[in-house]
Amino acid sequence: RTTFDFVIAANRLPVDRVVGPDGEVEWHRSPGGLVTAMDSVMRGRDGAWVGWAGDTGDAPEPFDEAGMWLHPVPVSAEEVEQYYEGFSNDTLWPIYHDVIVPARFRRVWWQAYERVNRRFAEAIAEVAAKGAVVWVHDYQLQLVPAMVRELRPDVRIGWFDHIPFPPVELFAQLPWRQQLLTGLLGADYLGFQRQADAQNFVRACRQHLGASTKGETVTLPSDEGRPQRTVRASAVPISVDFEGLDALARTPEVQERAAEIRASLGSPKTLLLGVDRLDYTKGIRHRLKAYEELLADGRLSTPDVTFVQVATPSRERVEAYKQLRTEVETTVGRINGNHGAIGSPAVHYLHQSYPREEMAALFLAADVMLVTPLRDGMNLVAKEYVTCRHDNGGALVLSEFTGAWHELHQAFVCNPHDIEGLKQTILRAIGTEAKDKERLMRALRRRVADHDVRVWADRFLANLEAAPERPERRR
Ligand code: G6P
Repeated sequence: RTTFDFVIAANRLPVDRVVGPDGEVEWHRSPGGLVTAMDSVMRGRDGAWVGWAGDTGDAPEPFDEAGMWLHPVPVSAEEVEQYYEGFSNDTLWPIYHDVIVPARFRRVWWQAYERVNRRFAEAIAEVAAKGAVVWVHDYQLQLVPAMVRELRPDVRIGWFDHIPFPPVELFAQLPWRQQLLTGLLGADYLGFQRQADAQNFVRACRQHLGASTKGETVTLPSDEGRPQRTVRASAVPISVDFEGLDALARTPEVQERAAEIRASLGSPKTLLLGVDRLDYTKGIRHRLKAYEELLADGRLSTPDVTFVQVATPSRERVEAYKQLRTEVETTVGRINGNHGAIGSPAVHYLHQSYPREEMAALFLAADVMLVTPLRDGMNLVAKEYVTCRHDNGGALVLSEFTGAWHELHQAFVCNPHDIEGLKQTILRAIGTEAKDKERLMRALRRRVADHDVRVWADRFLANLEAAPERPERRR
């Protein structure tokens, strides 16, 4: 098989190639919500996945992985710095997340972004069968839709934005704003997490491209022989594999492990949990501050309460991430120094990543899950937590600045900037009666079960299918 009717492209492949000091090659599961979601969508679809294997230099040969064709795209060491760490994660990521840290603009980063996007487009053009469906993912590949369109006018192209799309006032800062919009408009359909994200995109097209817009659609006038065309941008919120994860959390191994975790933490009355990539968008510092104050005020105390924070290593060479790590680790040290005791630290901080089974056990063990991002496209951790709670136990504290909040209305909502409010919400989540919490959890589970990752993928693909036929495709 060399070509496929269904092709997806994401910056990362679902597995990372790690070469050990002795030259031995190991494949590790890639981090992040995108990979988790797409992995389950791809199973049984007989498609190809175009992406980066997470290392530098020559890409490995394409290969089959559990019925999925993986097509690695090479990225050089310099391009990792300029395209991935630079433009994707030091320019776009902050702009798309409310400029929580300032964005940095470098012309050479942009050039590398263009160059790597072109390489992705060429790889897609190579593996896509005639008339294939091509589904491009996320902010690292915004130029790819138009580039694929040039190379392969016969294919149908969709793009999904896993992160927020910024308000036009922030997007306007980007020196390459027009190129990014034009790149995206090469798609037949564009999907976003929230309606507000889709609307931000539509507004940006009106303001920066002079496009005419109506509701969810953007119309570009005919130009240099290209006919006028209309592209739709709408919300299709992503989700989790409810069935698979729920089944995993019900296995005796995971349930036993959950009990074991609680016991090894000293069987606290209340176990608080945070699970995030170590990213400044996640509100980890705000969460720690609220917890520290609750301990200092005496409204919470160890060993009755303890807090486990899993912070998966992420983008470790980017300056803002280094700074965040220092701040988080200093804070954890201070909290433990002031409020811990021998055998009962106030915070268990784990800068590591864990397999799914261990995560499911942690979710099942936790009384209160703290999801407090300052801005997050969706936050699949919130949905994973709910999915694992087949016992209808636990409570979810959820920031209003996540996409998940727009669906999970029975969570304990918080504004992480409001530390006093966050403290009240944590106390409320702890103190609410078990039967009331159960009712809330049931409703949350119903929502996620009815809107799982399959529903998301089907809706996205149906919208792509419904996109108007392009004149160039008819030729
Ligand atoms: C978010 C992004 C993904 C990204 C993931 C992990 O979920 O939307 O595109 O893959 O974070 O980040 P990383 O930079 O390690 O790929």
